[in-house]
Amino acid sequence: MAAVKGLVLSGGKGTRLRPITHTGAKQLVPIANKPVLFYGLEALVEAGIEEIGIVVGDTGDEIRQAVGDGSRFGARVEYIPQLEPLGLAHAVQVARSFLAGEPFVMYLGDNFITGGIGEVVRRFATDQPDALILLKRMPEPERFGVAELKDGRVVRLEEKPPHPLSDLVLVGVYCFQPSIMEAVDAISPSARGELEITDAIQWQIDRGLRVEAHEVLGRWIDTGKMDDLLECNRVVLDLLEERRLGTVSEDSRLMGKVIIEEGAEIIGSTIRGPVIVGAHTRVVDSFVGPFTALYHHVVVEGSEIEHAIVLENTVIRGVRKIEDSLIGRDVVIERGSTLPRAHKMMLGDHSRVSLA
Ligand code: G1P
Repeated sequence: MAAVKGLVLSGGKGTRLRPITHTGAKQLVPIANKPVLFYGLEALVEAGIEEIGIVVGDTGDEIRQAVGDGSRFGARVEYIPQLEPLGLAHAVQVARSFLAGEPFVMYLGDNFITGGIGEVVRRFATDQPDALILLKRMPEPERFGVAELKDGRVVRLEEKPPHPLSDLVLVGVYCFQPSIMEAVDAISPSARGELEITDAIQWQIDRGLRVEAHEVLGRWIDTGKMDDLLECNRVVLDLLEERRLGTVSEDSRLMGKVIIEEGAEIIGSTIRGPVIVGAHTRVVDSFVGPFTALYHHVVVEGSEIEHAIVLENTVIRGVRKIEDSLIGRDVVIERGSTLPRAHKMMLGDHSRVSLA
């Protein structure tokens, strides 16, 4: 079989992550201080896939800037513009010349799985089915593509069925032979107006092509919503190795697994891991609780924060307790000193605030 290529989908609007995605790509939201997209690129390279096409949409410039030519991942990356987000099968169509009739692994840029994809890519290369799909048992299967198996064979796939026939859902990683091209060209748009890859694979099943399934035993998280992002952050923080590059004052206390990046400063504070404090971030007279990732150049002063992701250049000052939160870039949250003691805000579109 020819060398397997990688096709990473990094378009889409990320409406469920607004307002964060008003100003940035959903695939670049950091999980434990690393864009979720990078975990996927690393998984592909680890599985021996070095030629990678990234399908990009409106946020293409930002993705290009973050990933570059791929050399730092050990990959050669090419960008494939998708002018409109018309579905996963449409993304395969626009990648036609990059794929050049070769087998490939399609990886959705906002999906996260633990344990890599080495085993599944080896199985694909050995058995050479037309399609090898990854499945995972999940609560609320109606949020995803759902598969029905009979005697281990995939007999039916349905995209977001209102009454799912199983709890086996389609993970956003698929292995395809070039035969998928005929299928993506044959199907029609779904009710949501997209060319669904789920329908293209069903088309293959209907015509007797070989569609096989591999059940993912590790964790799989589709990071499209805030709760899922926070969960993913928890999973990754738990897996990281402790690292202390920044400075910690003597009157600070670090408990559990804490990662302190270059140039970060912890002064008069308590940090209860797992926590990652990004480069040049300052934590002063504060408590930073478990499962929190502060990205680079953040300031947390006289505040408490737990179970949260805070993006770059944000300042949090004098706030009693923030938890279960995703806070964007360049945000300022501070306790006011003037009367009346009212909540004063300037919030972007689609912001969500829950006051104690
Ligand atoms: C897409 C697929 C769906 C799959 C999911 C995995 O859904 O259409 O079958 O289960 O990715 O993340 P979307 O994210 O486009 O709603």
